[in-house]
Amino acid sequence: MRRRRIYEGKAKVLFEGPEPGTLVQYFKDDATAFNAQKKGVITGKGVLNNRISEYLMLKLEEVGVPTHFVRRLNMREQLIREVEIIPIEVVVRNVAAGSLAQRFKLEEGTRLPRSIVEYYLKNDELGDPLVTEEHITAFGWAATQDIDDMLQLALRVNDFLSGLFLGVGLKLVDFKVEFGRLWEDEQMRIVLADEISPDSCRIWDVQTNEKLDKDRFRRDLGNVEQAYQEVARRLGVLPEAGPMDLKGPKAMQ
Ligand SMILES: Nc1ncnc2c1ncn2[C@@H]1O[C@H](COP(=O)(O)OP(=O)(O)OP(=O)(O)O)[C@@H](O)[C@H]1O
Ligand SMILES: [Mg+2]
Repeated sequence: MRRRRIYEGKAKVLFEGPEPGTLVQYFKDDATAFNAQKKGVITGKGVLNNRISEYLMLKLEEVGVPTHFVRRLNMREQLIREVEIIPIEVVVRNVAAGSLAQRFKLEEGTRLPRSIVEYYLKNDELGDPLVTEEHITAFGWAATQDIDDMLQLALRVNDFLSGLFLGVGLKLVDFKVEFGRLWEDEQMRIVLADEISPDSCRIWDVQTNEKLDKDRFRRDLGNVEQAYQEVARRLGVLPEAGPMDLKGPKAMQ
């Protein structure tokens, strides 16, 4: 089957879906960091992220968080609802790490007094700068109501996922989510889009604080594939057939 390629990003490809208003999201093994200055391949990542994101989005739907996810199609692809992506990355932090630890000279791993939500503009040319609500509304990237909705949803995602991860011995240090606008009979609602995976979350082992996410790639810590596999295994979504399957089918053109 030939499908129209709508968009190729750094980690995923979007194809035209089988019905209007749908897309097929294909998960690649490609990894980038530091605004794509660092590039690499994490073998099997696409297969694992497809499964992990499916699992987490389905769980979130169960607790009333609307998402773009429809169903998984195969090892590397999932059917999603096409949305108008709001060009803001919403970051929720529970523990100091990454840029927050750097900016405020906090020791990585310090529990924050409360969860902190940040907004970053999705703009590669500008290096995804930190922005405030003022910037977001003044420049028209989202309305005040949209920001409120994103904030409420992001906090619910944080509460729910923090508990889910803790149940399998994982600490949700921080994560990034994207939202999109979905129109249904004249009504607009904001839904969770993109992916939730070790590419977009910091996840540490509760006992050892071992990093089980993309920081292993960013910081050349090694055992990157194994870390993603460990997250999938703990969540109970490791593909049955084992490592052979992780290579998965090649991207269709
Ligand atoms: N349901 C959806 N409808 C439309 N676009 C989506 C949906 N979910 C995710 N996207 C967009 O699809 C792309 C996924 O590809 P990928 O994550 O590889 O992009 P990227 O290289 O990170 O680039 P970007 O800076 O655009 O996020 C992103 O641009 C994301 O915003
Ligand atoms: Mg992306």
